[in-house]
Amino acid sequence: MGNRRRFTITAALPYANGPLHIGHIAGAYLSSDIYARFRRLQDHDVFFVCGSDEHGAAITMRAKKEGRSPQDIIDTYHLRNSKAFESIGISFDIFYRTSSDLHHKEAQAWFKAFYESNVFSVKTTQQLYDSSYNQFLADRYVKGTCPKCGYEEAYGDQCESCGSSLSPNELINPKSTLSGSKPELRKTSHWYLPLDKESDWLNTWLNTGVFEGSSLHDVKAWKKHVLGACNSWLEEGLQPRAITRDLDWGVDVPSEIEGSEGKKLYVWLDAPIGYVSATKAAEAQGIIEDWKPYWQDKDTELLHFIGKDNIVFHCIIFPAMLRHRDGYILPKNVPANEFLNLEGRKISTSRDWAVWVDTFLENNPSHVDALRYVLAANMPETKDAEFTWDDYQARVNNELVATIGNYVNRVLQLFHRFNEGRLGETKDYAVEYKTAMQDIDTAIEAFRFRDALQGMLQLARTGDKFLADNEPWKCFKTDPAEAQAMLNASMHQVARLAGVMQVFLPHAAHRLLEMINWSSPNWTILASKDKLLDLDHTIASFGLLFEKIDDSWIADQKQQLQNTLKSNPNAMAQKDEITYDAFQTMDLRVGKILEASRVPKTDKLIQMQVDVGFETRTIVSGIAEHFSEEELPGEMVQVLANLAPRKIRGVESNGMILLSETSEGKLYFVKPSADATPGDIVA
Ligand code: MF3
Ligand code: ZN
Repeated sequence: MGNRRRFTITAALPYANGPLHIGHIAGAYLSSDIYARFRRLQDHDVFFVCGSDEHGAAITMRAKKEGRSPQDIIDTYHLRNSKAFESIGISFDIFYRTSSDLHHKEAQAWFKAFYESNVFSVKTTQQLYDSSYNQFLADRYVKGTCPKCGYEEAYGDQCESCGSSLSPNELINPKSTLSGSKPELRKTSHWYLPLDKESDWLNTWLNTGVFEGSSLHDVKAWKKHVLGACNSWLEEGLQPRAITRDLDWGVDVPSEIEGSEGKKLYVWLDAPIGYVSATKAAEAQGIIEDWKPYWQDKDTELLHFIGKDNIVFHCIIFPAMLRHRDGYILPKNVPANEFLNLEGRKISTSRDWAVWVDTFLENNPSHVDALRYVLAANMPETKDAEFTWDDYQARVNNELVATIGNYVNRVLQLFHRFNEGRLGETKDYAVEYKTAMQDIDTAIEAFRFRDALQGMLQLARTGDKFLADNEPWKCFKTDPAEAQAMLNASMHQVARLAGVMQVFLPHAAHRLLEMINWSSPNWTILASKDKLLDLDHTIASFGLLFEKIDDSWIADQKQQLQNTLKSNPNAMAQKDEITYDAFQTMDLRVGKILEASRVPKTDKLIQMQVDVGFETRTIVSGIAEHFSEEELPGEMVQVLANLAPRKIRGVESNGMILLSETSEGKLYFVKPSADATPGDIVA
C-alpha cells in the first residue's frame, strides 16, 4: 500500500496522583482515541502511547497530604487510571509508567547525551529555600503572584491562569506551599536548557513549518490558540530553564556526572521522554516490532494530544530536546484542547467538583458510549466548553436514541419483517452517504471532532429521510420487490453506520456489528462501496443500542453535585468572575471605629462612628451577638466606603465593615496591618 501513513499518537501522561475525571477525557484522551481508531480503520500504521507521569511535586505533595509514600500513591493511581481508561475504551497500545526502570535509564541516557554534546549550561544561583523543611522550593512547592498576569496562585514553574512558564524567582510574594512561610534564599547549582538559543529555529519551525530547509508541517493545520500561545512566549523571549532539581523523588541525574549528588531531573524533562520509553517497552513486550520508525522515520507523523496547560512543554521544550537528539523527528502537530467546565464551574479534584470516570462507569456501565458521545460533542477544541447534565440528557435522548438508535431499530425491524432478515437479489437503490463520509474524513484530518461526530449523525439522518421519502412499508403492498430493494439499501447504510461508529462509539458499534452479524471492512470500503453486505447476508438479532435517560436519573446526578456543594460550602461559595473594572469601582478604605452603641430595641445591630480618613461615618452592622459595644472603639477595620446609604431600623448606614466568618460561625474583622492609618486605600 503506497499511501500507508505512520502515526505516533501520544496522549499527555496523566500524573498518578488522583483519579481521572471527564475533563481529562475531553481534553487529551477522547480526541486522541478517536484519531487513533480512525487511522487504524484506515489501515494506517498507528502507535498510540500513554502512561502515568509518576514524578514531580504533584506526586510527592499528594503523598505528604495523605501521609503515604510516593510509591504507594503512584501504585494506587497508576492501576486505577489504567482501569479507568480501559473502562471508557481509550485504545492505547501501551499504558506505561515513568517509575519503571526502563524509563529511568532512558531519561538518564537523554540527559547524558545532552551533557556530552554540551547542550546544557550550569549555573549557581540563589534559590528559594524553606528552612523549616530543609528543602529548595521549585515548581508546585512554591506559589506566588504571576508577574505576567497577576494571578495570585501561580506555581514556581507555571501559571495555570495565563499558561506562562515561570521560574520560582520570578514570582511576586513567593510562599512555600510546605509551610506557608516566606522562603529564604540559598545557593545551589543546576543544569539549564538554554532555550534562548533555540528561539530562532523554533519560531521558524512553528510559524512556517520549515526546519533545516524541509517543510515539516502545514501551519494552517495547527490550531490558532496553540500557535498564539507559542508566539506570545516567543515574543516575550525564551529564558534558560533549569532542568534539574534538589529533590529526593524522581530520576537521578546520572551518577557519573560530576555534581550529580542529590539532584533529580526536572519532571518535565523526564515525562515527555516517557513517550519514547513506552515505545521501547512496547517493542520489548512484542506490541510493535521496532520502536525506531515511530520516532526516527522522517515520514512518521508525530502528534501530541494534550490539554492547553501543556502547550509550552510540547511545542517548545520537548521539540528543543528532540532537536538535540540525533535522528529524532519533530511533532507534526500538537492539537491541544482547552478546558471543560462542569455545570458552570471549573472542574476541581481537590474540591471534588468532578464526574469521576471510574466511579461513574461502575455505577452506570451502560453509559460508556453515551459519556463518550457527550464529551466528544462538547469537546473544548478551540475554546473552553461546558458539561451539564441537562445537555447530557438532551443529547443522549435526541441524538443517540432518537437519531441513531431509532433509525437502526427501524431498519432492522422492517428488514426482519419484509425481507425476512435476509439480503435478497433485487434492483438497486442507494442511500446517500458520500458527503457524510467525506465530511468525517476532512474533520478528523483537521482535529475537528465535533464536526466529525455530526457526520456520523448525518448517516442516520439521510438514512431516515430515505425511509420517510420512500415508505417501503406502504410500497410493499403494491410492489414487494421494490420495497425489499429499499430495505436492502437501508441495511447497507446501517452497516456503514456501524463501521463508522467504531471510531466514536466502539462499544455500541460492537453490539450493532453483532446484531447485523457482520465485521466491518476498512474505511476506504466503508466510504466508497455502495453495497457493503453480501447477497444472502442475514441479520442475527436486534435490540436497543442506547437507553433513553429519564428525569429522575438526571436529578440523581445533579443531586450528587449538590452534595459536594453542601459538604464543601466555602470552596464552592465562589462567585462568578467579575472584571477588573468592576472591582475598581469599589472604594475600599482602612477605617477606625471611634464609638459604638446598640441600635435601640434590636438584638443584633450596633451603630458605629467610623473614621475613614477623610470623614467620620455612621455605619450599622449586625454584629451585636459577636462583639460588645465596649470592645469595639479603637478597632482598625476595612470599610467599603462607597456603598449606597441604607436606612436600617431608622439609622442611616454609610458604608460596610468587612467581616469574615470561621467554620464555627464566629465573626472576625478583616484587619489591616498594624501600620495602617484611617483613609488608606485598599486595592
Ligand atoms: N503529567 C502532566 C500533566 O498532567 C502531563 C505530562 S505530558 C508529558 O499535566 F509529555 F510530559 F508526558
Ligand atoms: Zn499568569
